Amino acid sequence: MVTLLGIESSCDETSVAVYQSSSNQLNQLIYSQVSLHNQYGGVVPELASRSHLEIIATLTDQLLSKYSIKPCRIDAVAYTKGPGLIGPLLVGGSFARAYAQALEKPAIPIHHLEAHICVVLYEYPEIDFPFITLLVSGGHTMLVEACALGEYRILGQTLDDACGEAFDKAGKVMGLGYPAGSQISKLAQLGGPNKLIQLPIPLKHDKSLNYSFSGLKTSFMRSYTRHKEIVPLNDFCYAIEQSIVAHLISRVKRLITQYDMPLIVAGGVAANLCLRRKLMALANQQSFRVVFPSIEYCTDNAAMVAFTAYLKLKARVALDHECNSKSYWPLDQLSCNSCS
Ligand code: KG4
Ligand code: ZN
Repeated sequence: MVTLLGIESSCDETSVAVYQSSSNQLNQLIYSQVSLHNQYGGVVPELASRSHLEIIATLTDQLLSKYSIKPCRIDAVAYTKGPGLIGPLLVGGSFARAYAQALEKPAIPIHHLEAHICVVLYEYPEIDFPFITLLVSGGHTMLVEACALGEYRILGQTLDDACGEAFDKAGKVMGLGYPAGSQISKLAQLGGPNKLIQLPIPLKHDKSLNYSFSGLKTSFMRSYTRHKEIVPLNDFCYAIEQSIVAHLISRVKRLITQYDMPLIVAGGVAANLCLRRKLMALANQQSFRVVFPSIEYCTDNAAMVAFTAYLKLKARVALDHECNSKSYWPLDQLSCNSCS
């Protein structure tokens, strides 16, 4: 039985979580910096680092007191080592290691994307490796074969922008807040097809499993500038959401027939209802299983960090002994990689 503290600080959310294996309780607090960065239309790394530094200790105290957990009961402190913004990662990593050292307990470095993937296994414990993951966030878009804990094979990925970035950049053009994915999705439900908005199908003749969103973004900007006086905003939201989701699904369609494995959708964009609906319809049609995390586990959170550390301890896989934060850290270079 273990009690694990998790710390997430890779971007603009400070989050702390505690996982207690005896009761399978996973509790967390998330402090979002959205209002801090909103006025700049994107995350300002220096401001993000300072904000993490200001809040992280208080948030940890609040979490432990809210769930009546004495620090001495913590067996290890897991933290996001990377990838992400280096300043924020350093703040979370230094805090986690100092906390662990004060308790004379180990600190466990965790890969941010692996955590996004593994938290799904908290809600769906019956799913086991291997499985396929569609990982869709503000910084990444990829299709991954999750061979085993710590062993991931990238089957396809974006050649330029991530899908969350495409939502956010489209939102910026339309004067919506940052990040814009969730708001675009809400407005899209009030919109519909509009002949004046013609967006291209990315990588139309490409037979790979890769993605590209930058051309879509440029076309969207042109279309918006040209027609914004006569086309309702909701229709623009509908158009960009439909295009992004259709592109995401096109690769899943191509891949899923080759693999007899469940599909796990992870990352911030997994919260998108249109993506969820269309993937579920595809899964029904083609008889495969698709699962999504609850919304609180889609966007950045520390629960995923604490739970991934638990899975590693439980499986007795070799832990990462290199503690330094890494802004760039490919998912297929975690540790020993037997399936590449
Ligand atoms: O996983 P995440 O919190 O951070 C990264 O690791 O990047 O993902 C954040 C991204 C943002 O781009 C945000 O716009 C997008 O997830 N997002 C959504 C929705 N909720 C968050 N995109 C589309 N629809 C949503 N409902
Ligand atoms: Zn993330």
